[in-house]
Formats: sequence, C-alpha cells, structure tokens
Amino acid sequence: MQKIVIRGGARLAGEVRVSGSKNAALPILASSLLASGKSIYRNVPALGDVRTMGRLLGRLGAGFSEVTKGIAHVDTASVSEFEAPYDLVKTMRASVLVLGPLVARHGRARVSLPGGCAIGARPIDQHLKGLAAMGARIDLENGYVNARARRLRGATIVFDMVTVTGTENLMMAAALARGRTTLENAAREPEVEELGRVLNKMGAKVRGAGTSLVTVEGVEELQPVEHAIIPDRIEAGTLLVAAAITRGDVLVRDCLPEHLEAVIAKLRATGAEVRAEGDGIRVRGKSEFKPADIATQPFPGFPTDMQAQFMVLMTRARGQSVLAETIFENRYMHVPELQRMGADIVVDGRTAVVRGPTKLTGATVMATDLRASACLVLAGLIAEGKTDILRIYHLDRGYDRLDKKLRALGADVRRARGSL
Ligand code: EPZ
Repeated sequence: MQKIVIRGGARLAGEVRVSGSKNAALPILASSLLASGKSIYRNVPALGDVRTMGRLLGRLGAGFSEVTKGIAHVDTASVSEFEAPYDLVKTMRASVLVLGPLVARHGRARVSLPGGCAIGARPIDQHLKGLAAMGARIDLENGYVNARARRLRGATIVFDMVTVTGTENLMMAAALARGRTTLENAAREPEVEELGRVLNKMGAKVRGAGTSLVTVEGVEELQPVEHAIIPDRIEAGTLLVAAAITRGDVLVRDCLPEHLEAVIAKLRATGAEVRAEGDGIRVRGKSEFKPADIATQPFPGFPTDMQAQFMVLMTRARGQSVLAETIFENRYMHVPELQRMGADIVVDGRTAVVRGPTKLTGATVMATDLRASACLVLAGLIAEGKTDILRIYHLDRGYDRLDKKLRALGADVRRARGSL
C-alpha cells in the first residue's frame, strides 16, 4: 500500500491546471451505452474511479482504452452483457449509472445494490422509483436489482430529495424512452448540465438539464459522440483552499468561477483574496483567518464534497466555525484524524463546531474516504513536522495526481511505501 508523506510549512505559489471533472466523466462514460459505436472523450481525468468505470464497460463487452493524455476511447458496438457485478459496484457506487442506459437501450440490466459506504447508506430508491414509473419491471434478489422493459415510456417523476446520479440515471433512461419524461426536483449540479449537453450531442432532446425541471423527448436512436469534459470544480475548490490555508499565492487555471460561487464566497468570508484571472481563479491567503459557518446544500449551495477541506481551513480561524452536513449522515470521518493532529472540533450529529486557531502537528493518519483524504493532505501542508497519510487509494480514486500538483506549487509532499 502507498502512503503520502508531507512536511508542513511551505507557502504554495505558482499556477496549476485543474483536471477534467470526475463526477462529469463517470455519467458521460456510462452514457456511451446509449449508442452503438466509437465515442471519444477528452480532458478525462486519470484517476481510480474512471479506471473502474472503464473496467465495468469492459465487463459489459464494450471496448475501453486506458486514458492517455486525457483521451478515452469507448466502443459499444459489442456490448453483450448487462450485469454490473458486486465487486465493481462495492468499490464505486457510481457504477449504478449503467442501469438507466442498459435498460433504455437493451431492455435489461442486473446491477448490484451499492450497499453502504464510508459516508452513509446511499440507497438508490429514487433511481428505481423512476425506472418503475417509466414501465420497467424491478426485482430485487440476492443483493442485485433486476430491471427489464420492452421499451421504456415517458413519465413524470418527482424526486423525494435531490439526487445527482438519480437525476443522471433517469435523464439517460428517458433519452430513448417512448414519449416525454419530466423530472421535477432534479439535481442542478454542473455535471448534470454537462451530461444533458452530451446527450443532446448524441441526438437526444433534453431541455433544462442543470435546472430543477428537466424534460426529455425520447428518440429512437442515439449516435456515438466526441466531447471534451468540463473541469473538476471540487479539485479546483480543493486547490483554492490549499492556496488559502498555506497563505500562498496561486492561480488555479481551467476552472469556471460560476461552478464555485458558494466556495468562493466562503473563502472570501475567511479573509482570503479570491478573484477571477484569465482562464482561472487566483487566491492570495492572508496571515489572519476569520471563522465562517457553512451548511452543505445541493448545487448551487456549498458542496458537501468541499466540507472536509473547509473544516481544516477553519482550524486556522480565530474563533468558532459551525459546519452543518445536511446531505450525508456520516461525513465526519476525518474529524478524529484532525483531532489527533491537534484540531479542536466537537461533532454533534450532523453539526461540527471548530474552534481556532489551533496549531496542527504532524502525525500518522488514515484516509477513510475520498474527500477526507484530501482534507488530511491539506492538514499535512500546514502541520508542524511530518504527516504520513495511509490508505491513499481513497485519494487516488478521485484526484488526478493531486500530490504532483501540490509539489509543483512548492509543497514538500511525496509518495512512499506504506505499512497498511
Ligand atoms: C453524487 O453522489 C456525487 N458522486 C458525490 O460525490 C456527491 O457527494 C453527491 O452527489 C452529493 O453532491 C457522483 O456524482 C459520482 P446523491 P450521489 O444521490 O449521486 C440520498 C465525491 O466525493 N439518496 O445526490 O450518489 C443519499 O443517500 C462523491 O466525488 C437517497 O436516499 O449522491 C444522500 O443522502 C462523494 N435515495 C442524498 O440523497 C436515492 O435514490 C444525496 O445523494 C438517491 C440518493
């Protein structure tokens, strides 16, 4: 197993390019199953979850080329299997995104239920409710979902709660259904809007993707596509926090300010100087940090995927910051590790109170989930002494060489063989 070793204290400086969006790439790769033939995707991030999606497409009989220079080739002409097996779904919940496309195009799918994960139960009841409303027969057996439909038909679906992949799965299913589908209370994330853009390039008729009301007129057939994927707003946000927390001066390039308004507003509230510059955003950290309260919300609110990163920034703030995690029931796994480094954090249910400023000292810590591991990297950047982060496969699932990017900005960070 690998670990990351960081010696804290460097002020980050320079410029860094953000990779393509993981959470856009995953549904877009799954959408290739809606057509037959060769699709080409550019600006695809080289990270674990994309490799897992590639393996899943391969299991279904599609051809998938390893991502080189950000380019992935998918050939779906030979898809002949329709099962997403447990061993892949358990490592990546987003595997469930093949469900809608397979039922829509092939009339069948057998997908392992995702089970829980580190940050919560994360069921897929909304995905299944929508497919059933579109005429699919849904059976649950042996931990798998069996979905069948001769041809899906359009329906009006109202989500009980905002679900990103639920919206994406049903948008894809609706693209080949007979008639009109309306999705109400749909997720508004930029990645949902991007998927709608790709589906329309394939010949679909999607309107309103990225708003809470999406309508899809089903068509008979979709075509393969060439598409360059949007930048990863969460990687961008993580890099912005890295610049602020180290009192650095960094230009984060290839990122879209309109995807980060809530994060930028909160960074400014803590005293950092943040402004658009060229094709990116420049952050200048200040010596003093002000406390700020956050409550995670669906887009355009403050993203849950930035909660852990923001928490470690708040350990530097003079005063008390209150964080409310409203999306997932267990997304504070990073707190015990931050406490071992000296942070003053009290968790009560879905609320965490951070008091500062506290000096963090280096320690051996363990990553538990993707964004928790990013938070520990940020903690290592400012901790006194050496921090060893174990189980960094969590980090590598969702970031494209984050350590390399930070090293290029002056951080003392390297990989080494780990014990665990
Ligand atoms: C997506 O997960 C992202 N993943 C997550 O990013 C992100 O944290 C999450 O949206 C929220 O923004 C991808 O896009 C691949 P949800 P998703 O369905 O779609 C409940 C990362 O770090 N729910 O929006 O799985 C669910 O339990 C990852 O990159 C149901 O109850 O999340 C959760 O509490 C982590 N039933 C809430 O809704 C359902 O059928 C939001 O979940 C679906 C969801």
